[in-house]
Amino acid sequence: MMKTIKSLFLCVLTLAAASCGRPQQASTTGTTPAVERRVDALLSRMTLAEKIGQMNQVSAGSDVSNYSDAVRKGQIGSILNEVDPVRINEFQRIAVEESRLGIPLLVGRDVIHGFHTVFPIPLGLAATFDPALVEEGARVASVEASAQGIRWTFSPMLDIARDPRWGRIAEGSGEDPYLDARMGEAMVRGYQGTLQDSTTMAACIKHFVGYGAAEGGRDYNSTFLSERQLRNVYLPPFEAAVRAGALTLMTSFNDNDGIPSTGNRFILKDILRDEWGFDGMVVTDWNSMGEMISHGYGADRKEVAREALEAGVDMDMMTYGFISHLEELVRSGAVRESAIDAAVRNILRTKVLLGLFEHPYVDAAAAEAVQYAPEHLDAARRTAEESAILLKNTGVLPLDAARTGRILVTGPMADAPHDQLGTWAFDGQKQHTITPLAALRERFPGRVDYVPGLRFSREKKSHFDEVVAAARRADVVLVFLGEEAILSGEAHSLADLNLIGSQSELLAALRSAGKPVIATVMAGRPLTIERDLPNCDALLYAFHPGTMGGPALTNLIFGDATPSGKTPITFLRTVGQAPMYYAHNMTGRPYNGETLLDGIEAEAGQTSLGNTSYYLDYGAYPLFPFGYGLSYTEFAYSDLALDAASYRRDGVIRVSFTLSNTGRRAGTEVWQLYVRDLVGSLTRPVKELRRFGRETLEPGESRRVELELPVSELAFWGAERKKQVEPGDFQLWVAGDSASGEPLAFKVE
Ligand code: BGC
Repeated sequence: MMKTIKSLFLCVLTLAAASCGRPQQASTTGTTPAVERRVDALLSRMTLAEKIGQMNQVSAGSDVSNYSDAVRKGQIGSILNEVDPVRINEFQRIAVEESRLGIPLLVGRDVIHGFHTVFPIPLGLAATFDPALVEEGARVASVEASAQGIRWTFSPMLDIARDPRWGRIAEGSGEDPYLDARMGEAMVRGYQGTLQDSTTMAACIKHFVGYGAAEGGRDYNSTFLSERQLRNVYLPPFEAAVRAGALTLMTSFNDNDGIPSTGNRFILKDILRDEWGFDGMVVTDWNSMGEMISHGYGADRKEVAREALEAGVDMDMMTYGFISHLEELVRSGAVRESAIDAAVRNILRTKVLLGLFEHPYVDAAAAEAVQYAPEHLDAARRTAEESAILLKNTGVLPLDAARTGRILVTGPMADAPHDQLGTWAFDGQKQHTITPLAALRERFPGRVDYVPGLRFSREKKSHFDEVVAAARRADVVLVFLGEEAILSGEAHSLADLNLIGSQSELLAALRSAGKPVIATVMAGRPLTIERDLPNCDALLYAFHPGTMGGPALTNLIFGDATPSGKTPITFLRTVGQAPMYYAHNMTGRPYNGETLLDGIEAEAGQTSLGNTSYYLDYGAYPLFPFGYGLSYTEFAYSDLALDAASYRRDGVIRVSFTLSNTGRRAGTEVWQLYVRDLVGSLTRPVKELRRFGRETLEPGESRRVELELPVSELAFWGAERKKQVEPGDFQLWVAGDSASGEPLAFKVE
């Protein structure tokens, strides 16, 4: 009897997914018994049709009246793609005042890297290695979007991507699960803040799961990830974001090992709900339920609606599968109403937690004043500064503003106000963008010549006489290259990753003028720029830097800011190397200690890599390893120490090292801590990132950095099909990139 009372009590307390049959875990969304009572009370008053209505999400048209009748009848639970605060208020008024139960709508939008004030693309955000700054950016996005009535963003995208052909690599944090997890948590915190506060948005972690491993980098393609690969690489960022309180999750388009994610019960129920205890809401991707028919996984909409519900989907984005068929499926007994109740609880919980019932409306007249606020633009500029990566510098940078006379500004990205915003910048208005040309003209009135050389990145041209003549007249050439926004993002994969059009030819022509050439690349992915490096004296990789890219780059080039970004993804020498990433498994034929950076000098054919895993023509190494980036000063690492030689599995490793600024300018270094498990029940990666941090040091300054790493963070999903730390020998590095540093050895007993 006591036992029963105790477990009932626990059930009420934990409310994990509102199901008493599940393992007892704390709520991931932070729901409370009071919230659950409210949800249940509402649910008990709903008809089956009203419940199914909540599970239906539609894309708003240009006219509210298109959907007003359906909202009034309770047939729509959420809309996406409506941004006008007046129309959003009108939708909410109909839902709240004219529908039977007055349940407000959840209004969603892809606010991916800023709303009006656009921040660098997520891959650029990851290059900052600065979660606090990324959180600040997400907060800015929330403040701007929520002012217009948007309370749900389809971000962050947590897809690990190791193939830069995939256009959506722009939208995520790159190749590394640890970095991705930290960025994901930061965005969740930034968007969601204190939920009831009406300047917040619910985050939606996506795309669950494996979508970034699309075969050949072709978007929407199949993936074949083993359970172990999922658990060790692709799932951890999602689990971290769930633990950070993400309210919603989106399924992915891909089929993994033959099962489309939207119908994959193993990932949506067994892992997400039962193992992690997620009690938020699951939405499909756009028509991904319908795409299960194209996949050949279901014959018609009725069948895929049942499959998706049974797999664990709560809300249907744009298939109209639930709204058209669930009622009939329940009536025929093919689907249990309790499954629908569970889904609707997750939806209502989200609405209650967001405070939508208390604050369904926005002050439409006040919305505009919030957009592009000075502090938002300032955060966007700081973020763009931190996200740029200095990949080459012969010493020419930073330029001395006082001693630089005439400046030639050239290249297709020098004045491309739309394209520098990058992919998924629906709401960023190009008239608010400050391009490099605009920023440089403002800073150096009368000293800037502008000759585009190429009008857009894809342009093909063979004569550059005009721009070369201008370069000869100038003291320095600032050339802005890259790719238009439309060349990355969804459905925009590429098979050739060299600078597109005649940009390499433009750079080579500029080189011939004999003046210092400073190149900046703005792109949605790491392009293969090896052949371009000799043709410039310095190269900054800015990804697509957003609204404030121009001022940020001007500050970096002229030394008002110092580059500190590091590569969040391996930069390849040639596309044929893809996929290549630092945390690859140890092969049976390891090449020279796996020190990737040594290979930058290693020309194929000149260095014998023996019978190892490498290309005859391109060797074994990338152009730049993960975590790489220069500064205007130099940093040295010394005296790496651990507090013991051996640790228990429940112990904590105390690591310390000295970081010194050995150069002549102040600067910020992103240090990185990597570990390697030398012998495991399975082959293990040669290195894995486990900590990073940013330290700002004055010239000549040294700092002892101390940190703790719980041994539990060395765990992985091993041969025994569970996540655990395997005792044995380990190595640990602290360095400025994934290819440097000398390891210290330690044991776990
Ligand atoms: C994308 C999602 C996006 C959704 C809504 C889909 O095509 O894959 O990432 O959130 O559209 O716009």
